[in-house]
Amino acid sequence: MPSLTLKERAARISEAAKRLSDELKQANFPEPSFELGLPAPLYSDAPDTSALRSKQELLYMVDELHSLLTEPVLQLTAQLRNPILSVHPIIRLGIAENFPAEGTSVQNLASKLQLSENLVRRLLSHSATYHIYHESSPDYFVHTAASRTLSENNGMRQWILIGREETLAGTCQMATTLQEHSFSEEPECCGWSVRNNTHLPLFQALAGMPERATTFAEAMRWQSTLPGFSHHYLIEAFPWGPDKQQLTVVDVGGSVGHVSQALLDHNPHVKCIVQDYPDVVSQGQASLPDAYKSRITFQAHDFFKEQPVQGADVYLLRMILHDWSDKYAIKILQGLIPALKHGAKVVINDRVMPGWQEAHYLVEREARDNDMYMLGLLNSRERTAEDWSALLKGADERFQLTTIHQPPQSALAIVEVTWSG
Ligand SMILES: C[S@@+](CC[C@H](N)C(=O)[O-])C[C@H]1O[C@@H](n2cnc3c(N)ncnc32)[C@H](O)[C@@H]1O
Repeated sequence: MPSLTLKERAARISEAAKRLSDELKQANFPEPSFELGLPAPLYSDAPDTSALRSKQELLYMVDELHSLLTEPVLQLTAQLRNPILSVHPIIRLGIAENFPAEGTSVQNLASKLQLSENLVRRLLSHSATYHIYHESSPDYFVHTAASRTLSENNGMRQWILIGREETLAGTCQMATTLQEHSFSEEPECCGWSVRNNTHLPLFQALAGMPERATTFAEAMRWQSTLPGFSHHYLIEAFPWGPDKQQLTVVDVGGSVGHVSQALLDHNPHVKCIVQDYPDVVSQGQASLPDAYKSRITFQAHDFFKEQPVQGADVYLLRMILHDWSDKYAIKILQGLIPALKHGAKVVINDRVMPGWQEAHYLVEREARDNDMYMLGLLNSRERTAEDWSALLKGADERFQLTTIHQPPQSALAIVEVTWSG
């Protein structure tokens, strides 16, 4: 791939687009449009013309520019959703972990992994077309920024594993369940449960699969290092009380407590209670650094039951309600009610999908892709602002939606709710 500056790339794109546009005009063809599609001379099987070549050139250059401007880690996670890459042996066979920082020859890697050179070359050559490795000669490959993250980061490998084995596997199976269950709100009526041959929904089933549950929890922890998922959006956006004022936060479904730790780093006067399934809280307890021990406690609690921590200032639901259909999300919210004091905050940190024409289609696509993943994983959903408002009303009129704050770079919004009861 030629090494070009951004301006050079933009100039080449502009020249090719102009050439193409002029040629179409001369031949009395309309420009491509989403409504009408491509004019006939630009179909792949049309006679070879310079217009067709300009189109091809534009497609290649635009894809290169897109890849170049995509944060390597996002490029990699997005590409790994591609079915071929999602089952790619670069992870399964340990290629990523065994790839030395200075690059390596096919021969060295093959002998280290005890695989045939031919196979290793095919796998690396394939991943090089996705910018995962860079082919400096047919026998020698070097790291790209994306593969460096992959090889150095265990959390990312776990993220990829759950992306592939839970999210993608469930989503791929979802079409088989939709006909039968399109009116159902039950979490086990989904692709994931069919795929795993279980009548249990994901989280309950994981409770009986300790290894997968650990991978899941570690992947959730790693997710907060992804651009768009950093804790700081939540922590800086919400008024967590002035310094020196004691504030009790219940981190409902808080996994291994990574959000609570970040919250404490921001405001040492916060006290957090992290609630989750027994195995998850044990994992969190065991890995909690000493510095947090006096201010973070763990509690096994099923959030469908009545909230045991009475009178806390904040009940945080980060990436919880999107796991559940309205019927169950309402139950989770109602489970809080007996514990809520007047003025207590319920902070929902979840996606708010853009409404019609509110955002660029790529922004909306990302949210709606996730809506499909939730459908496949748990028969659940992502929600628009309107959906959130209706959900809160459905749970209890006393849940008052105070603000929805969407930090510009964040995937998750902060829906601040005040209990007026
Ligand atoms: C998508 S993760 C979000 C974790 C964490 N809040 C975060 O932001 O990374 C959902 C969490 O809900 C927990 N969970 C699922 N069902 C639960 C239940 N009935 N009671 C308590 N926790 C539950 C899962 O174990 C998991 O840790």
